[in-house]
Amino acid sequence: MRKHGIEEVVARMSDGTSVGFAPGLEGLVATRTRLSLVDGEAGRLIIAGFPVEELAGRASFEETLYLLWNDALPDEDQLAGLKGDLAGRRALPQVTMKVLVEAVTERVPTMDALRMAAGTLGSRDGDDCGDALQVVAAIPTIVATYWRLSRDDEPIEPDRELSHAANYLYMLSGEVPSTERVRALETYLNAASDHGMNASTFAARVIISTRSDVVSAVTGAVGALKGPLHGGAPGPALDVVFEIGEAARAEPHLRTKLERGERLMGFGHRIYKARDPRADVLAAAAERLYAADADRELYRLAIAVEETAIRLLDEYKPGRNLYTNVEYYTALLLHGLGLPTELFTPAFTASRVAGWTAHCFEQRELDRLIRPQSEYVGAEDRTWAPLGER
Ligand code: ACO
Repeated sequence: MRKHGIEEVVARMSDGTSVGFAPGLEGLVATRTRLSLVDGEAGRLIIAGFPVEELAGRASFEETLYLLWNDALPDEDQLAGLKGDLAGRRALPQVTMKVLVEAVTERVPTMDALRMAAGTLGSRDGDDCGDALQVVAAIPTIVATYWRLSRDDEPIEPDRELSHAANYLYMLSGEVPSTERVRALETYLNAASDHGMNASTFAARVIISTRSDVVSAVTGAVGALKGPLHGGAPGPALDVVFEIGEAARAEPHLRTKLERGERLMGFGHRIYKARDPRADVLAAAAERLYAADADRELYRLAIAVEETAIRLLDEYKPGRNLYTNVEYYTALLLHGLGLPTELFTPAFTASRVAGWTAHCFEQRELDRLIRPQSEYVGAEDRTWAPLGER
């Protein structure tokens, strides 16, 4: 891969042109990527060349992973090779198991346990490919093992014969999932696999840019993802649907919230000023799932709540373009798959690790230390006072 853009930025800075203070780095282009395009105005998401609507409902997770890593869909042999490589790395190393067992006794929250356990993975010999395969393969095992341990259930060994997504559901519940359920989870895993320079992806790239290893980058990314402003708060959107209970109550309930100045969870997005394209994909997947083997009434209620919310948001916040975001249908889909709210962010991790590892490869190629500057606003003329004189 070519080293994109570095020279231009350095040239601008040595010219004396100030890049300026950009809190949150908003609007600042820190890298070039072929992995995903987020077009907020048009409500468009492209993943490695494919509109998300084209890819998410069709690809297996392994195909999406191959696509992100190699910029092409795999042929049969390549796909079989990747599936085998992943399946062979699902079992947890002893040290990882020990960490999870200890974490359970301390009642560590699932995302913290996942962060701790992720850090125990990896080859320690700088093999990016092996490390990437292991973190992608093992994250579902960590989540399922920890979830079962925390409920005093026996962990379930991964099944090599099952696909990545099917095995994830199997390790959680002990039941081999139906085709519809696997399709629904794969649609989610694909749709959320990459999304521009989001905070966790940026964290992973910063870590790799120091010539650190993929496991460290993914562990740091897990830490970034768990924050409530990123992946850490997908549950509340569903809670509102449950609180409402029946379609006729949607309008008074949502009006009361808006009158009180509250935000409607699952609506609005910093970048998308149209409907989040992932919401469409996940809504379609949720519709199929709920029609096949979940609670149809809940799906109908969610649709009614969504329609009412969009109408009222337009009334209370005209011109703000507030539409359904990814969290709304993610919550509905994952709930339909039997996942409790606590496992929503871990599921997001199992998806986004595909993007993180692909960004690690891209950043490794670029091999440029990410090192922005800060503007000092502190004092400059302090003099030292001995301890007793302060
Ligand atoms: N409900 C009610 N009003 C809203 C909502 C909402 N969901 N979202 C934005 N607004 C209003 C704000 O109150 C503000 O109104 P004002 O100008 O009268 O004060 C206006 O719209 C603009 O809001 P901002 O906060 O500037 O928009 P921003 O782009 O920063 O917000 C955010 C994005 C944080 C997602 C916001 O829409 C929100 O809080 N949504 C609800 C929480 C949620 O669903 N989070 C998950 C997001 S998906 C994801 O991050 C992967």
